[in-house]
Amino acid sequence: MILNTELEYKGNLFPSKIISYEKNRDTLTFTCENNVALQVTVIRDSVLRFRFSTTSIFEKDFSYAITKYASRGYNFLEVTEDDTNYIIKTSKLTCHIHKIDLRSAIYDAKDNTLICEDELGFHWEESYHFGGDIVKMSKTAQEGESYYGLGDKPTDNNLKGKRFENWVTDSYAFGKHTDPIYKAIPFYTALHHDKSYGIFFDNTFKSEFDFCQERRNITSFWAHGGDMNYYFIYGPQMSDVVANYTDLTGKPHEMPALWTLGYHQCKWSYYPESKVKEITSKFRELQIPCDAIYLDIDYMEGFRCFTWSKEYFPEPKRMVKELADQGFKTIVIIDPGIKIDKDYWVFQEGLENDYFCKRADGPYMKGKVWPGECYFPDFTNPKVRDWWSDLFKELVEDIGVKGVWNDMNEPAVMDVPGKTFPDDVRHDYDGNRCSHRKAHNIYGMQMARATYQGLKKFSYPKRPFVITRAAYAGTQRYTSSWTGDNVASWEHLNIANVQAQRMAMSGFSFVGSDIGGFAEQPNGELYARWIQLGVFHPFCRTHSSGDHGDQEPWAFGKNITDIVRKFIELRYQLLPYLYTAFWRYASEGIPILKSLVLFDQEDRHTHHRNDEFIFGEKILVCPVNAPNSRGRRMYFPRGNWYNLWTDALVEGGQELWVDADLDTMPIFIKEGAMIPKYPVQQYVGEKEIDEVTFDVYFKLGKESSQLYEDAHDGFDYIKGRYSLRDFNLIGKDKEVIIQQYKSGKYDAPYQSFKLEFHGVPFKIEKVSIDKEGFVCEDIVLNGETSIVVDKNFREIRITGK
Ligand code: GLC
Repeated sequence: MILNTELEYKGNLFPSKIISYEKNRDTLTFTCENNVALQVTVIRDSVLRFRFSTTSIFEKDFSYAITKYASRGYNFLEVTEDDTNYIIKTSKLTCHIHKIDLRSAIYDAKDNTLICEDELGFHWEESYHFGGDIVKMSKTAQEGESYYGLGDKPTDNNLKGKRFENWVTDSYAFGKHTDPIYKAIPFYTALHHDKSYGIFFDNTFKSEFDFCQERRNITSFWAHGGDMNYYFIYGPQMSDVVANYTDLTGKPHEMPALWTLGYHQCKWSYYPESKVKEITSKFRELQIPCDAIYLDIDYMEGFRCFTWSKEYFPEPKRMVKELADQGFKTIVIIDPGIKIDKDYWVFQEGLENDYFCKRADGPYMKGKVWPGECYFPDFTNPKVRDWWSDLFKELVEDIGVKGVWNDMNEPAVMDVPGKTFPDDVRHDYDGNRCSHRKAHNIYGMQMARATYQGLKKFSYPKRPFVITRAAYAGTQRYTSSWTGDNVASWEHLNIANVQAQRMAMSGFSFVGSDIGGFAEQPNGELYARWIQLGVFHPFCRTHSSGDHGDQEPWAFGKNITDIVRKFIELRYQLLPYLYTAFWRYASEGIPILKSLVLFDQEDRHTHHRNDEFIFGEKILVCPVNAPNSRGRRMYFPRGNWYNLWTDALVEGGQELWVDADLDTMPIFIKEGAMIPKYPVQQYVGEKEIDEVTFDVYFKLGKESSQLYEDAHDGFDYIKGRYSLRDFNLIGKDKEVIIQQYKSGKYDAPYQSFKLEFHGVPFKIEKVSIDKEGFVCEDIVLNGETSIVVDKNFREIRITGK
């Protein structure tokens, strides 16, 4: 007879001593006396996966985050043991697994520095409320350790001393430190003693991270279900940690079409058609470059996805064509909520095929969004994704829409306390059936994936373009993203700056903010300063909610229009530079934006910087982030930097004042850099590029630069039809040598490069191109002089007296 049904609270439970060990190729399994098991898989010499089970039974291995294209394989693996530890050695790491309690400690294989060590290590608590375990991990923070990453957290770059939650959440007008917001990217990088490593906790349940907040020298993370399943990624360079994380969770599946890196204009909402045309025509009239125009929810019939309002957009195909004739690509919003309407074909198809999410006890998951009561496709079911992808046929193939904007995909539900589905909603999870507790964080990702699948199919042979609000680790494979509903305030300009850097550090570079702020209205000064920042974000779009007034480049008077134009023009000039940085990202996982700590981790001054960042490899940018400023102080990382506007050379490793009236901002170029530029165009493809200009910045010493090009759309580049030019600049007292190596089968239509030299300290006497010298009597290379050369030159030697 049961007398007492009270639960005995067991608190934290721990592994006991290891009683068996097994090695199966790259995976080592340690089993403890109390049935806890740990699998350590050697993914690469610098990447180890740790997976724990509290029952020694491992469930089917499945992850939405890890890409099938991730690199695997190591050069060296040896497992030995001594009295206290099992010792796993690769060419990069030594990992100790303590025999008595399964705790691990990881060392740099070269110099034996302790990199990362378990404190309590793996432990867990039984979750009486939901069943299963709350899985936990704690590690000892090393002296001076700093933490970065974690997706879109709107807080300072360095996360030390703070605690965070990962649960994607619709967060209208979020503020500094609001947590969680739209994205869940449970990956951080850590840095101490000049060495960096990363941890990716691949668990889609609600997870939490504590960076020395609860206890001063302990870092911990835990999740409300699922496995303790994390990847340890060693650098020691932080840029390698990020690149390896990006390799694991995926690089963008293709290069973006070049036009997607142009400027985009958006508002909630431009309608009817005449309004859209008024906007696009104004761009052309004022000669402000712009490539994309967005249609927000009002283009639809009663907010029904895949329909068009007959009243506002009676002939979408004609309109989209006319916009295209002006050089505008039309991008439309598609939300996940499907209006409950028996006469609506998308609803009917979803219902007939049983594609909508259901509650645990049977009925459909019903929730209110823009269209009123909706059902929601279960994007975690591959059949649903296929169906969804096919829904884009008419929009893309017939009407000619060039991109799709996925919003509200957290999923957001209105008028309910949690702002999303209840926990009990069921999901297919690609055949691993589960509740919303597990699927919530990846719902938006799977929606964006299904949308991407559709765009890829129907845009072919052009490249697809998708933008999403919600994301989990790995979403960067399919789509770009923006930072959600921000506010027109100076504080938010700062938040946008850090968020874009943080996302880039979290493997997701193709990101930008709603320039000028979504909620409320900026004044002209704030808008201009935000455009200055925004043109240095990989995704560059103005967006605002319509009820707060106009937010087009001309909405704030002529002075501001001129400043905005100047910076958007600069963006268009820098497109080949940005495209090259994107190629580095898509091929090697190198983030397009680099926070200073990522750029130079050995310089302690960089560990707490928020404002300055490197755009691509060579351009140092620092937005002006306060009203009425005529400049600001900023930190220059080590090295020498040319002021873009004046060519003045600044020595790095110090903080300095920089003048920056409203029509300018602090932009600096790394010495030795060769920055490729296209002419200003009103939209990508407006002009045939007949020459590429390089701004060449003198350096005493060596520096390398690159230019990547291809057809800027289509997939031929995958078959080798790209052009990669590697340049070496070698500067001496009286000489500059530039060497070029070209690879790839693409031949750009232009024939020549114009090299514009900056900072050359001598008077030129002779220029020799591919050993054919000629004497230049009247050229003084003082920053204004240029030479035009055949694009396929091998070596240029400029000598002076
Ligand atoms: C959400 C989006 C915003 C959009 C609005 C209407 O608030 O974040 O970008 O304009 O919904 O669709």
